[in-house]
Amino acid sequence: MSVSLQPSMFLTKDTRLTLHDGNAIPVMGLGTYASAEVPKSDGTEATKLAIDLGYRHIDCAYIYGNEVQIGEAIRSKIADGTVKREEIFYTGKLWCSFFSPNLVRQGLEASLKALQLDYLDLFIMHWPFSVKPSDAHSNQPLDFDDVDFCLTWEALEGCKDAGLVKSIGVSNFNRRQLERLLSKPGLKYKPVCNQVEYHVYLNQSKLHEYCKCHNIVLVAYSVLGTARDNTWVDPNSPVLLEDPVLRSVAAKYNRSPAEVAMRFILQKGAVVLAKSFNPTRLKQNLGVFEFELKPEDMEMLDGLNRNLRYAQFTVMKQHPEYPFHDEY
Ligand code: A2P
Repeated sequence: MSVSLQPSMFLTKDTRLTLHDGNAIPVMGLGTYASAEVPKSDGTEATKLAIDLGYRHIDCAYIYGNEVQIGEAIRSKIADGTVKREEIFYTGKLWCSFFSPNLVRQGLEASLKALQLDYLDLFIMHWPFSVKPSDAHSNQPLDFDDVDFCLTWEALEGCKDAGLVKSIGVSNFNRRQLERLLSKPGLKYKPVCNQVEYHVYLNQSKLHEYCKCHNIVLVAYSVLGTARDNTWVDPNSPVLLEDPVLRSVAAKYNRSPAEVAMRFILQKGAVVLAKSFNPTRLKQNLGVFEFELKPEDMEMLDGLNRNLRYAQFTVMKQHPEYPFHDEY
């Protein structure tokens, strides 16, 4: 079942939003980012179980360093007949060191090779800024580069034309950056989505409104407040799933705070990504389709906004394309 961008009250795990290029994205996706201490094989097992449970949208990225394992899980579920390739929606992200137009294809092919897949369903620019080519997995400090993302975008359009990706989009773009891309002379394809941090503590209503006007789907990450990895999340920041108001709404519906946090985003009309490698929570999180938040509870959750961004990527703050200096 594929629906338009309007939030639907009858969401199921098979609901997809229609993208403006005619493809369709499942409204709930499995996040696969885990910190370095987590064995990569955990991602394989979780992804296999997720597919068994009915998840059809898998979100990953070159920089996560786990495409081999996530690809292995997807291929094994295709091989055992659980799903067909076309039933899976896989999102990959172009890392910032591949932004030079002549490197984009190389960045994509590195992902396809690791995954052992022929194509990606969605390929997005991970950030609006570029860094100098380097071994992205080496932990070396990032060296700013000044590649214009509009040129990178033209190379992404080429990847779509070559049939290597079905849809193309962006991530972490602010309004100004979206505007610049949309007004690029000779634009062949508009981005289908903007993937951004979005949760009860970070209201994205203005960016969301802008995206809706341009038929760009908002895809939400860190909906559960992240795993609080202290290498990039301020340990003093409030713990989203412990929020008393969120918990009281959850108690009212007899649901977990995580289910309510996800349902809030779905009812806003965005696509939700949630990471769990835990079998019980993977199952529990599908409960998001078994209830509906009433308008007064949506309003109460709206009131929790405190413009809190867990993923700030502070080492990039001085980059001219750092997206989070603008209000939205
Ligand atoms: P785990 O993988 O052990 O389940 P985000 O998607 O915002 O990045 O959040 C991911 C974090 O939320 C992970 O630490 C994940 O842990 C945790 N998580 C996922 N589902 C739930 C849930 N239902 N209840 C509590 N924590 C959850």
